Amino acid sequence: MGKGSGYGKVILFGEHFVVHGNPGIVSAIDSTTDAEVKKAAKGITVRDERKTAKGYSEEKRLQQLESIQNMLRAMGVDPKIALDIWIGGSLPGFSGLGASAASSVAIARAIAHELNMKISEEKINAVAYEAEKAYAGNPSGIDNTAATYGGLMWFKKNMSGGQDLVERLSIEEPVEIVIGSTGKVANTKAMVEGVAERKNRDPQKYNKVFQRAEELCYEGRAALEFFSLKKVGELMNENHRLLQEIEVSSKELDLLVDAAKKEGAYGAKLTGGGGGGCMFALTPGKELQAKVASAFKTAGFEYLMTRIGIET
Ligand code: MEV
Repeated sequence: MGKGSGYGKVILFGEHFVVHGNPGIVSAIDSTTDAEVKKAAKGITVRDERKTAKGYSEEKRLQQLESIQNMLRAMGVDPKIALDIWIGGSLPGFSGLGASAASSVAIARAIAHELNMKISEEKINAVAYEAEKAYAGNPSGIDNTAATYGGLMWFKKNMSGGQDLVERLSIEEPVEIVIGSTGKVANTKAMVEGVAERKNRDPQKYNKVFQRAEELCYEGRAALEFFSLKKVGELMNENHRLLQEIEVSSKELDLLVDAAKKEGAYGAKLTGGGGGGCMFALTPGKELQAKVASAFKTAGFEYLMTRIGIET
């Protein structure tokens, strides 16, 4: 049996903007999607045992099958191969946590393992990027890169199709965060397309927002490297406001962001494609983390307590 894993992630700065060539900062979290793959007699079956938001697996089913086909093609494996695929692990199937990319990396690794293929990490990342196209349409590559390599990183898509810029960042020590889930399954592809359409329609407004988003990323990087967590939080708050301006936030995401700030979180923003899915709050220290998590619970939302900047 072949086995593999991929990391979940949160985006500290720059989702959506990265699709258009802006930089982004992403951190893996210590939750993974795990996959097991076995050669079978007939067809491809997927047993998805991840804990998910209601309706997540059903909604993503077709995209998941398409992603596996993309993956097999990119790996040079006959798409008619028969495989039994199992996915599970500690990363919940909530939109915004890179669950699709984590599952693609896990499945690609498990297929390679089962078929005794020697595959480099770069190739796994490239295969997962092809798989991501089924979920995100025109992905930047930030999610599959985080899912493959883990860690904290600076990412900039190469808009001419060449090698993306990926730099590892390090911080003094890992920092506690709380991820809040709206419980709503989001369609990343539709969210990415929506931003591209609105950007085309109103370039003046969008260019300004995109420019500020880029500056924020550089300021965020410096704040992380100086370990100025208050500053990181302020910049995250501003990043969330920019995401509201490009219309990818939602009522529930804003509610969770406000609730976290009210409890003393240093900053809070949506993560990933938005339109539902997840947000996260920067909550250094276990006490603040527990306080924010408890506020989410009281408000009736699911949450995940984890850390950014972990060594992977
Ligand atoms: C999704 O986690 C992040 C987006 O920027 C899409 C992408 O970069 O591929 C919304």
